[in-house]
Amino acid sequence: MFEIKYRDALGRIGILDINGKKIETPTIMPVIHPNPKKQVVPIDFIKKLTDIIITNSYITYITKSLRELALKVGIHKLIGFDKVIVTDSGSFQLGTYGDVKVSPREIIEFQEKIGVDVGTILDIPTPPDVEKEKAEKDLEETLRRAKEAIELKREKNFKMLLNGTIQGSTYLELRQRAAREMAKLNFDIYPIGAVVPLMESYRFKEVAEIIINSKMNLPTNKPVHLFGCGHPMLFALAVALGCDLFDSAAYILYAKDDRYLTERGTLSLEELKDLKSFPCSCPICSQYTPKELYQLEKKERERILAEHNLYVTFEEMNRIKEAIKNGSLWELVEERVRAHPKLLEAYRVLKNYMYYIERFDPVIKKTAFFYSGVESLFRPEVYRHKKRLKRIKYEKVYITTVSKDIERPYSENLNVKETDVDILIKHPIFGYIPYYIDTIYPLSQHEAPELYDFEKEINKKFQEEFLEFLKKKGVKVLNIVEYNYYINSIGKFNSDSFRIKRMLEYQYGYDIIKDKKIKVVRSKNTGRLRQVLDENDNILFSVRSHDNLLIPSKLGAKLLWENIPFPKYRVVVNKEAEPFIREGRNVFAKFVIDCDEDIRPYEEVLVVNEDDDLLGYGTAILNGIEMKEFSTGLAVKVRGGIKCVE
Ligand code: GUN
Ligand code: ZN
Repeated sequence: MFEIKYRDALGRIGILDINGKKIETPTIMPVIHPNPKKQVVPIDFIKKLTDIIITNSYITYITKSLRELALKVGIHKLIGFDKVIVTDSGSFQLGTYGDVKVSPREIIEFQEKIGVDVGTILDIPTPPDVEKEKAEKDLEETLRRAKEAIELKREKNFKMLLNGTIQGSTYLELRQRAAREMAKLNFDIYPIGAVVPLMESYRFKEVAEIIINSKMNLPTNKPVHLFGCGHPMLFALAVALGCDLFDSAAYILYAKDDRYLTERGTLSLEELKDLKSFPCSCPICSQYTPKELYQLEKKERERILAEHNLYVTFEEMNRIKEAIKNGSLWELVEERVRAHPKLLEAYRVLKNYMYYIERFDPVIKKTAFFYSGVESLFRPEVYRHKKRLKRIKYEKVYITTVSKDIERPYSENLNVKETDVDILIKHPIFGYIPYYIDTIYPLSQHEAPELYDFEKEINKKFQEEFLEFLKKKGVKVLNIVEYNYYINSIGKFNSDSFRIKRMLEYQYGYDIIKDKKIKVVRSKNTGRLRQVLDENDNILFSVRSHDNLLIPSKLGAKLLWENIPFPKYRVVVNKEAEPFIREGRNVFAKFVIDCDEDIRPYEEVLVVNEDDDLLGYGTAILNGIEMKEFSTGLAVKVRGGIKCVE
């Protein structure tokens, strides 16, 4: 069972429950040799870093002494690790030697017998670029073995969880098919397989496309493991694409070759040895100078280098988790992909999948949107804004520019005379920013340098298309000169109700205010909007200070419910949950029976029963797809419940 705690991009900090042992994701499973004598790094060192490791059941199976011991004392005692042990199946050996001396069924049974926590099917890792017929044939066999394994688990009531690997070589439609078929079998974890050769040859764009095409067809409530990905430079991008688990043999393999991992790439000890100190402050690098390490004898050097490699591997994962919690994962990805042009190429391909990625990206983040280059123009926040611009019911529009010396938000620093005109300010990142909504995240909460002309050109096409869209709708469009000149000629004016109408339209897609009379409350210190009241001074909405979204009160929620048609913004819960929600308790995923699929994470939503009676209101933690698929964890953090009599 898996639940989401924090999220950003497609990445999530989750809790994975493996038969009562809880693991926080995203995380890395160090690869450990099943033979304690062959472990490069002592298991006590590993234990301090992680709650989950991966080892090989096939090596255990074919080595007589290991097999007998594993069958007798179990894999945990054999290795000396009592937390979660995942095993691979021999597929890697199958891929390398073309053959293994065990049947798919035997290796599944063996993994259960030796007490592993998560076993793996004997999938066929089809290499890149093979003939499509070969990839299809291999995939059919992997799917057959997958069915066999799941049936075996069910028949014999196996306790271990099962990995169902996605194959399909470099054929995206085969990866999609593999994901769809494997999803039907209800595996516990979905590894994405056979990407090692692609990563070794820096074909990161293909890896990214394989991940997305698999993700799009997998259930959102199951963790995804990127098989064989242990280089920390790839983690940020892979997590942002929704990978939850990684395994690292890299920490040993690189150490054997005297290579030193960093989050930006690999260095050789040979190159480093003339530096006074290492570019890292882990306990290893603080203790040795590069020269000292270089001069150690091979075996010891290997172990010590492997320990550094593990430290940076975990450090990068911790940094990624921090970024998820902070809402700055895209910023971290944009830093990391600049470490290698092939990574940048992989990042650039995401543009083609933004329609999918955007559905998972939170509508608000704790940190501002930082522009780090043209790629930022295609981020989900920008994509979403351009879609949501079309939600506003424009009648008459002024297109204008604002001079650089006027500070954002414009709606707080400029005064507009008209009460019924939309002013669209041309913007090099967001295309257009409507004057009345420009306090909303990220329209004011972004930082960017002065863009080059060629970067500004990128939005020209969108701007033209948007004008066409307006004209087709019969909207009157006028171009006016830079707004500050225009402003100077007019006086102060209040158009609050029009502004609130627009903010709500942008946030929810509907006219919520209609002809209702409203008032606003402003901050005495800053003059900024704080609350929206009805005629009788009851609070309808609060303006949340960091993102300026309109957060409904009970009356506000009722107003939303009256003016937004079912099923939009609705989360439908079962009868059992109804009294709890009315009391103001949270909505857990297991109570959700239906919902608006277009709900985005952290949007304000309405909780209703099957008759669309309003039960409560709150913040969606899951998006509309996840709400239907998850069965554990929080779905909506409820702000307030609505009693029957109200
Ligand atoms: N380790 C690296 N790649 C793979 C793969 O495709 N399948 C399995 N089972 N293990 C792997
Ligand atoms: Zn170090």
